[in-house]
Amino acid sequence: MTTQNRQSPLLEVRNLSRTFGAGDHIVRAVDNVSFDLYKGEVVAIVGESGSGKSTLARLLLRLLDTTSGEIRVQGKDVLSYHNHGDLKKYWQVVQGAFQDSFAAFNQFYSIRRTLAKSLNVLDRTLTNKEVQERIENSLLEVGLEPSDILKKWPHQLSGGQLQRVMIARALTVEPELLIADEPTSMLDASLRVTVLNLLLALQKRHNMSIIFITHDLGQANYVSDRLLVMYKGELVEQGPTAEVLNNPQHEYTRRLLADVPRLHRAHEPVGV
Ligand SMILES: Nc1ncnc2c1ncn2[C@@H]1O[C@H](COP(=O)(O)OP(=O)(O)O)[C@@H](O)[C@H]1O
Ligand SMILES: [Mg+2]
Repeated sequence: MTTQNRQSPLLEVRNLSRTFGAGDHIVRAVDNVSFDLYKGEVVAIVGESGSGKSTLARLLLRLLDTTSGEIRVQGKDVLSYHNHGDLKKYWQVVQGAFQDSFAAFNQFYSIRRTLAKSLNVLDRTLTNKEVQERIENSLLEVGLEPSDILKKWPHQLSGGQLQRVMIARALTVEPELLIADEPTSMLDASLRVTVLNLLLALQKRHNMSIIFITHDLGQANYVSDRLLVMYKGELVEQGPTAEVLNNPQHEYTRRLLADVPRLHRAHEPVGV
C-alpha cells in the first residue's frame, strides 16, 4: 500500500454527483463521491439496491453525463471527452462488464461477430489477424475454448459462459481498468466463485485494476483490497477491506455486516 501511494492514481474521482429529476422529485443517485484507485488494485463498491452503484459505474464509463465533479484517468480529465474518437480511446483503457450478459448481446450475431465488431469499433488500427488473435486470447483468458465458442449464438451458451464472454469482450482491448457491475448476480453459487476467481487471476496476470460492484459483502471481502461503502448515493466509508470489515465506522456498514454473520472468517467467499 505504501509503495502504491507514492505512485499517482490510475483513477481519481472528486466530488462526483449525478441527479435525476428536479425539485421535490430530485434523486441524488451519486452524491459528492470522491476516491482514488491505483494500478493493480481491486476495489469493491458495496451497497444495497438503489444506493447508486450502477450510476457511478456508468459515470466512470462515460455512458452517462455527470451533474458535477471530476474524473481523471492517468491524470487526464475524462469529462472533457465528448467526441467519439476520444471516447473510443478512453474505452480502450476503461472497460465494463455488467450484470445481465444475455441482454448485452445481439441475439442475431454469432459470438465471433459480436467480439470482432466491438473490438473493431474501438480500435480500427488492428488487422483482421490481430483482431482474431485478441479475441482468441481473451476467450482463453476466461477459460473458454475459442473453436467451440466462436461459432455459437448467445442463446446456445449458459449464463456462466455468457458472463465470461462478456468479460472476454472487455479484455480484447487490453484495458487498464475493468468495471464489473454485479457480474455474478445472474449466476448460481458454484459459477459465482468461478467468475470471482477469474477476476482475481486477471488482476494478477496483467496487474489490471478492477472495480467490483456488488450488494454482497461476502463477495466484496473475497475479491477486494479496498472497500467503498455506498449509501443513498454517498460514499459513507472507505478503507482496506479487512479494516473496514473488522472495524466498521459507519452505522450503515455495521448494519450490512450484521446481515452476513459468517463474514468474520476472513477471505471466505461468504454468500458465493
Ligand atoms: N435513468 C434514471 N432515471 C431516473 N432515476 C434513476 C435512473 N437511473 C438510476 N436512477 C435512480 O438512482 C438511484 C440509484 O440507482 P442505481 O445506480 O441503479 O443503484 P444500484 O446500482 O446501487 O442499485 C435509484 O434511486 C434509481 O431509481
Ligand atoms: Mg445496480
